[in-house]
Amino acid sequence: MQTTESLESLRATVRDWRQSGLRVGFVPTMGNLHEGHLALVSDALKHSDRVVVSIFVNPMQFGPSEDLESYPRTLAEDQTKLEAAGAHLLFNPSVDTVYPDGEVACSAVLVPESLTDILCGASRPGHFRGVATVVAKLFNMVQADCAVFGEKDLQQLRVIERMTRDLDFPIRIIGSPTLRESDGLARSSRNAYLTDAERRRAPALFAELEQLAGQLAQDRSQREQAVNRAAKSLEDKGFKVDYLEVRDRENLGPAADGPLVVLAAAWLGRARLIDNVPVPA
Ligand code: PAF
Repeated sequence: MQTTESLESLRATVRDWRQSGLRVGFVPTMGNLHEGHLALVSDALKHSDRVVVSIFVNPMQFGPSEDLESYPRTLAEDQTKLEAAGAHLLFNPSVDTVYPDGEVACSAVLVPESLTDILCGASRPGHFRGVATVVAKLFNMVQADCAVFGEKDLQQLRVIERMTRDLDFPIRIIGSPTLRESDGLARSSRNAYLTDAERRRAPALFAELEQLAGQLAQDRSQREQAVNRAAKSLEDKGFKVDYLEVRDRENLGPAADGPLVVLAAAWLGRARLIDNVPVPA
């Protein structure tokens, strides 16, 4: 696997691949890779002949009091994992390469507020502006045929799908199912922030969402009571619930008659955990 920080070298390699008729897949990440990321690489390999992975801790998507400085940077370990997973090229640009004039002065991509200012966007103002902008830039840098995003970050996936459609990016977006630990906890880089005691309690988030989704599949009429009960049960277990909501699965709009999903974000100690579970039809 080749690693490059250089945009010119990335473009030259991808151009050669495309001229040889090879299909290129792309997996954008912020590094500190775990099995969940490697599953995205494996999905990308199913849809393409060559896979580019980017590692870039994007300052534009972090709020002023968030963990930008302390976000784990583990390049050597990440390279070993990506090599073993079969990725072909790691693009690891500097902040100067991505934001030559600084991220504050950079043009930005605004996806409609109805999608970006709800759920995670309500407590992380500007987060999805940062995500959409960096992903748009990375799409233009890499020029891949498809890109894979995890369904754990369902709102992020929907924001990227919407941006891709609205701005006519010639790239196919593929959602990849959430990879879980054996006790149900969704894999996430931020699980590393959990203490041993918190780690033992953390699977309750998924368990509560699964139970709620099952209940709603039986009876949607008591939705509000069921959501309040699930949120209270999490608080009783030591979580600080940021949101727990039932929404339309496709556009994350208010729940109506179509397919639904339950989504939550909750703090457990220093870790902000997010997860979602589709309501069975
Ligand atoms: O999901 C992530 O790791 C990031 O939000 C992404 C998509 C790489 C953009 O920085």
